[in-house]
Amino acid sequence: MAKTVSDTLVVRIAHKGEEKVFDLRKIFNENPNRVISTVGTVNEDGSPNAAPMSFFYCPDERTIVVAMVGTSQTAANIKRDGRAIIEVLFGGDVVFGVRGRGRVIKEALECNQATMAVKIEVGSVKKDTSPAQIVTSGPTCTPRSERADEYEKAVWEELVKGACGGGPRLPGSDAAAAGSSLSRRDGAWMPRTVGRERYPEPGDSTSKEISVGLWMGAYASTTSYMWRAADLFAS
Ligand SMILES: Cc1cc2nc3c(=O)[nH]c(=O)nc-3n(C[C@H](O)[C@H](O)[C@H](O)COP(=O)(O)O)c2cc1C
Repeated sequence: MAKTVSDTLVVRIAHKGEEKVFDLRKIFNENPNRVISTVGTVNEDGSPNAAPMSFFYCPDERTIVVAMVGTSQTAANIKRDGRAIIEVLFGGDVVFGVRGRGRVIKEALECNQATMAVKIEVGSVKKDTSPAQIVTSGPTCTPRSERADEYEKAVWEELVKGACGGGPRLPGSDAAAAGSSLSRRDGAWMPRTVGRERYPEPGDSTSKEISVGLWMGAYASTTSYMWRAADLFAS
């Protein structure tokens, strides 16, 4: 059975008189959206569910904030049950299972209403390294498109901002009321929001506008602008 080695994201392992420190908090935060890890949760009938995720931000040693598509099974399981395990495989033989309990801290991100923020409180960390193999890298990924890149930056910025106290929630950011679906336009998993308001037409916004708005407007824009940002995969 795998050994529990820590109750925080900082893992100290003594080996032949030497101590090795694995700081998972640092690994997540220094590699935004690049530490692809499997999130395990429990379905309503008790069966297991697993899904790869990568939006992990750690405000402190005991907390992981995950950006999660609101319609995913993982999100439903977290809402209903809370239990989760994040299996991390990363270069440098970083192989740990982080067990914790999650709850939704934001139903709808400001930059994308179909994405929620889930806070996972770390309970324990188990060591899953193999005596036979050294893990030299985790899975790697790159944004599929410019839009995906913008989405990634906007979500990450909001995770960091939200986890550090959070900004004001814009009116109308109710994912449940708005409804959501996954956009396969780029062949990717990025969410889009469909809702009660007019669905933006192609040409309503360009990637450039979105980018400038996100990075310079810094959430000062109006709800209608937010809808454009939320829908950046639809046009
Ligand atoms: C490399 C990679 C990274 C991903 N990162 C996330 C993520 O951070 N958040 C998320 O909600 N989905 C992410 N996904 C998409 C989910 O894994 C995918 O939607 C999955 O089917 C959800 O499964 P579920 O409905 O069983 O939860 C990622 C997928 C891949 C391949």
